[in-house]
Amino acid sequence: MLTEERNRRMTETGPGTPGGDFLRRYWFPIAAVSELDKEPVQPIRLLGESLTLFRSLKGGLGLIAERCAHRLLPLMYGIPHESGLRCAYHGWIYDTEGTVVERPFEPTCPPLKVTSYPVEALGGLVFAYLGPEPRPLLPRWEAFIRDDLDRKMSFTPLPCNYVQCMDNSMDPVHFEYLHGHYGNYLLGLRDEPPAFNTASAHVKIDFDVADHGLIYKRRLLTGESEDGDDWTIGHPIVFPYMLASPTGSLGFQIRVPVDDTHTMHINYTTSQPKESGNPTEVIEHTELEVDSWGRVNRSAGIVVPQDMMAWVGQGPVMDRTKEYLATSDKGVVLYHKLLLDNIDKVGRGEDPFGVIRDGAKNEMLEIKKTTTEREGFNIPGALRGRA
Ligand code: FES
Ligand SMILES: [Fe+2]
Repeated sequence: MLTEERNRRMTETGPGTPGGDFLRRYWFPIAAVSELDKEPVQPIRLLGESLTLFRSLKGGLGLIAERCAHRLLPLMYGIPHESGLRCAYHGWIYDTEGTVVERPFEPTCPPLKVTSYPVEALGGLVFAYLGPEPRPLLPRWEAFIRDDLDRKMSFTPLPCNYVQCMDNSMDPVHFEYLHGHYGNYLLGLRDEPPAFNTASAHVKIDFDVADHGLIYKRRLLTGESEDGDDWTIGHPIVFPYMLASPTGSLGFQIRVPVDDTHTMHINYTTSQPKESGNPTEVIEHTELEVDSWGRVNRSAGIVVPQDMMAWVGQGPVMDRTKEYLATSDKGVVLYHKLLLDNIDKVGRGEDPFGVIRDGAKNEMLEIKKTTTEREGFNIPGALRGRA
């Protein structure tokens, strides 16, 4: 259980809030690069700020204010120009830094600049940084920098705070019930055979905090040896907003804080190309499915939709003054402590956990993998203890 004040401090995302200042020390993905080919001007909402992403005709990427400084037309209606973005209303042109570089009809063009933020492309995604300079490095995770893999990015908007998604990733025990027992129950309702081995139960869980924001969650199930890599290595979370893909591929579930009550979930997965040397890319946009009683995703697929049910079901911002934390919540407690400690660190002017500034450490960031993650779900019982 948290106080109302601590829960707010931990879940706020907007500018000028301690939680928002903390999040503004990290880069976040905001769009798929390839989608700028068909829609080079896109409205973006990130950390409680409404913005405009565009690609100029010369290929420069800009992330600037939501509205034109002249008469406040949304710049999402703009026209890409050689030197930036032309407002649709009276033709003022903004460069990628947000500076007005042309004002048709006006005899003079005194200095005028709107909000702008740095963006970088990596792994087929556009990343944005909304914090103070000097900006940290954009982390070069292996999944993002490998160009020899097929990539799939699935974007799903969620009506809940990002911390709920991350709490769930720091909670190994839920797999046994939300995915195992509940998953089999839902499959039974559809007259489908059970997909989960529910014979094993969790015996113990633990967590290791490593470098670059990595936190490994470890679990031991009945019948497993302590020498097994589910216990000796575990499965990684990247603080504060990603879970490494549990599907045997390099990738992440990325929880982008849109604002206090919305999250953009990006399921970023990779696989070996069927034809070597010819990697493909798939972009998907999906919506939460809701049944006639308003329940999320009972008829949808297994695992990730069940997690989404849990995240969204806890409310727009979960009221943690009313929860009853138990032994299984060891990881949730650790994650909240890390959030609150790192919010304090940012308040003292220090870098929070996971921020990287040393280029030598950022050539390629790797994650330790268990046998299941190396070999995928084909090994027996692999669905028992992931995610
Ligand atoms: S409102 Fe944008 S140029 Fe007038
Ligand atoms: Fe899960």
